[in-house]
Amino acid sequence: MATIRLSDVQKAYGDHPPVIRRVNLEIAQHEFCVFLGPSGCGKSTLLRMIAGLEDLSEGELHIGGRLVNDVPAAERGVAMVFQSYALFPHMTVFDNMAFGLKLAKQPKDVIERKVREAARILQLDSLLDRHPKALSGGQRQRVAIARLHQRFANASVVYVTHDQIEAMTLADRVVLLHAGADAERFGSIAQSGAPLELYHQPKSRFVAGFIGSPRMNFIDAAVESIEPGRVTVALAAGAQKLVADVDGERLQRGQRVTLGVRPEHLRLDGDEQFIQCATVLSERLGEHSYIHADHAGGTLIAKAPGDTPLVAGERIRVHVPPAACHLFDEQGLALRRSTFEPERAAA
Ligand SMILES: Nc1ncnc2c1ncn2[C@@H]1O[C@H](COP(=O)(O)OP(=O)(O)O)[C@@H](O)[C@H]1O
Ligand SMILES: [Mg+2]
Repeated sequence: MATIRLSDVQKAYGDHPPVIRRVNLEIAQHEFCVFLGPSGCGKSTLLRMIAGLEDLSEGELHIGGRLVNDVPAAERGVAMVFQSYALFPHMTVFDNMAFGLKLAKQPKDVIERKVREAARILQLDSLLDRHPKALSGGQRQRVAIARLHQRFANASVVYVTHDQIEAMTLADRVVLLHAGADAERFGSIAQSGAPLELYHQPKSRFVAGFIGSPRMNFIDAAVESIEPGRVTVALAAGAQKLVADVDGERLQRGQRVTLGVRPEHLRLDGDEQFIQCATVLSERLGEHSYIHADHAGGTLIAKAPGDTPLVAGERIRVHVPPAACHLFDEQGLALRRSTFEPERAAA
């Protein structure tokens, strides 16, 4: 599959309001692109339009530079893998993946190398000895993709999931969709970019909350003061003031904002820049624990080493590093983070 380009694409079923709004997206050759989002946000509709199983209501779709709005599915050079895609049940994952190469009478060492390379890309390395019945639906689908990918060495892949961990581990690029009022205001794409770009530099509160597990902590606050690259906020409940390393040029003093910080960026040993909390419980997962703690404005979760002792009800100061803070305005749009440069995915 060559470059896929969607320009101002909309889709409405019958007289209903559009389920896909103003989608502009380019998927490069070789790219492994994952459509991600909650149920009903339009992932399948978007995929079906690219495949030619559904008409576009508005906009243009180009594949390999050719306008294909009116080109039937079979003539688009698009191959599809459905979740129920048949794998040979009596063969291991390795043998399923090697099947086409064996038929093509490829040498054994070539087959071995190609299968292992595809397995690495699709995160199937540890599953090569299993049989299909011991795989999840998503894993089976990936085995089927691996077969395709070997036959079409230049293929770009578009993959659909609601599982953010699957999306983050597989994708060169994640296209996160949202629905409802957000889609009406901003178009269906909430954000499109490399997985770590969405993680470190989410454009909105929706993206920040969707990517990452456990979810980012959100705390209501108001703008106290603004300096270049740095905003001080006062938490809406309690007396704490916190500094966030974000670009606050478009904010005003007194404006309501939401402070966001991920569980993995909090520290339990704060003596400055902290939120006063009382511990509630610890989820012990072995290597690390998730500490749940109440503060004046709600509950937060902090990731801590696995052996962290916890006395329920103990008062602790949870340190919030300024560089780890995200800030969102009343519309839910993120302020640009000033000290953080997102890691660029290899081109
Ligand atoms: N054939 C159809 N007719 C009418 N509405 C549809 C049809 N297919 C999907 N929808 C609606 O379009 C929206 C997006 O659906 P879908 O693309 O299946 O989302 P997702 O795959 O993200 O769960 C949903 O509100 C769904 O109810
Ligand atoms: Mg779907």
